[in-house]
Amino acid sequence: MAKIRIKDILDGKYAGQKITVKGWVRTFRNDRFIALNDGSCLANLQVVIDFEQYEEAFLKKITTGASLAATGTIVESPGKGQAWEMQAESVAIIGLSDPDKYPLQPKKHSLEFLREIAHLRVRTNTFGAIYRVRHNLIYAVHKFFHEKGFYNVHTPIITGSDAEGAGEMFTVTTLDFDNLPRTPEGEVDFKEDFFARHTKLTVSGQLEGETAALGLSEIYTFGPTFRAENSNTSRHLAEFWMIEPEMAFYDLDDNMALAEEFVKYLVRFALDHCADDLAFLAKRLADEEKQKPQHQRQEMGLLEQLHFVADNDFERLTYSEAIEILRNSKPNKKKKFKYLIEEWGADLQSEHERYLVEKHFKKPVILYNYPASIKAFYMRLNEDGKTVAAMDVLFPGIGEIIGGSQREERYEVLLQKIEMLGIDAQELDWYLDTRRFGTAPHSGFGLGFERLMQFITGMGNIRDVIPFPRFPGHADF
Ligand code: 4AD
Ligand code: MG
Repeated sequence: MAKIRIKDILDGKYAGQKITVKGWVRTFRNDRFIALNDGSCLANLQVVIDFEQYEEAFLKKITTGASLAATGTIVESPGKGQAWEMQAESVAIIGLSDPDKYPLQPKKHSLEFLREIAHLRVRTNTFGAIYRVRHNLIYAVHKFFHEKGFYNVHTPIITGSDAEGAGEMFTVTTLDFDNLPRTPEGEVDFKEDFFARHTKLTVSGQLEGETAALGLSEIYTFGPTFRAENSNTSRHLAEFWMIEPEMAFYDLDDNMALAEEFVKYLVRFALDHCADDLAFLAKRLADEEKQKPQHQRQEMGLLEQLHFVADNDFERLTYSEAIEILRNSKPNKKKKFKYLIEEWGADLQSEHERYLVEKHFKKPVILYNYPASIKAFYMRLNEDGKTVAAMDVLFPGIGEIIGGSQREERYEVLLQKIEMLGIDAQELDWYLDTRRFGTAPHSGFGLGFERLMQFITGMGNIRDVIPFPRFPGHADF
């Protein structure tokens, strides 16, 4: 028999029918009311049992966390809070749960505590909602690109190149650490390793994505990426998911337009398809905000914020214009920034990005044309000879959510840059082939999926928007 979902029952699809439902007990009140959840939606199904039918010992087994099957008729609920409930004729326990040991009691648990039991937190309202929103957004990413005629490309996770320079990398090896092969110079001899070279986990699929775009025109990747930087912040993971579209014959303007359209689409998709979960997460965030002092509270609630981003144009300005605004800003003059902005060329920190977005413009901002010196080698050099056609999309509460650029398609200019930075051109020979044979202007960007998740769910810590977070010192589960 096909499993019946609680979501469909609560949508009224089984009115008056006798069915069997299966799920996990959230609460059991007065030996009579079981709140049953199967993860198909936020809400529980109220299963009403006649306790006189059962032995005392049996009723004791209906505990928070236990799984069970209930058979009965779906009737209109006289109680508040739900339209439908089940009048159960029989209940069978499927999996017992020792109430003294089950860590998820029907009360509020801290997010820190739940992180320690990440294998069980999916059974809470908050994490059930986060998992469901995450799924919907994954689906929306593919839907958006598919409908636009982009092709999804799987780029390698194990890579021999680290030319991207986006962060510290994790080595992938099968060498025996107790007996490492050495070169005559005494260095580890990776020629003896599985791939006969030093391999690592990728920080980005971009370079391989570019090769695909220069044949398929418009592609995107959506894969895991790994960065071993020791940044213990609420916005960094060591393993995160990134969406990287790459488009031939797009310039920087086309790139910015696509990035804006894409994130707005995703926000709108969540509003349209995850209404109950977002309403719950909005309330959670509002409760959390109430704990903060007045001046630290956000002006907008979660849903307001999402609508605002979906419905308003992002502000676009150059890095140079941003530097002027920041240099003359109050926190800079009063030395409130940790890193003061003095000169053109300074790298922007998250405090500066957030000032621009949250205080100055009060909306998402796209900064473009950054100094070449603070950006990656593959970005296209502008006419001025000192800036590159880079762009970052900055979001309220998050800071950088997207980073991208128009790519340097001119072989000579690119080669010069590679040599100037001391990157081994031989290692990038395959990449340079794209510029040797039918090169074309092209652009792309990377959206950090978990940063987007943070924005849409209102969760303050990135460790709470991925099922099993990886960060320094933590790779449990
Ligand atoms: O700006 P990044 O480093 O850009 C790239 O990797 C390019 N190859 C993208 C491209 O042009 N195809 O990273 C892109 C995005 C950031 O804007 C941020 O949202 C996210 O990835 N990100 C992280 N998210 C979580 N944890 C980390 N440690 C992250 N580092 C970057
Ligand atoms: Mg970046």
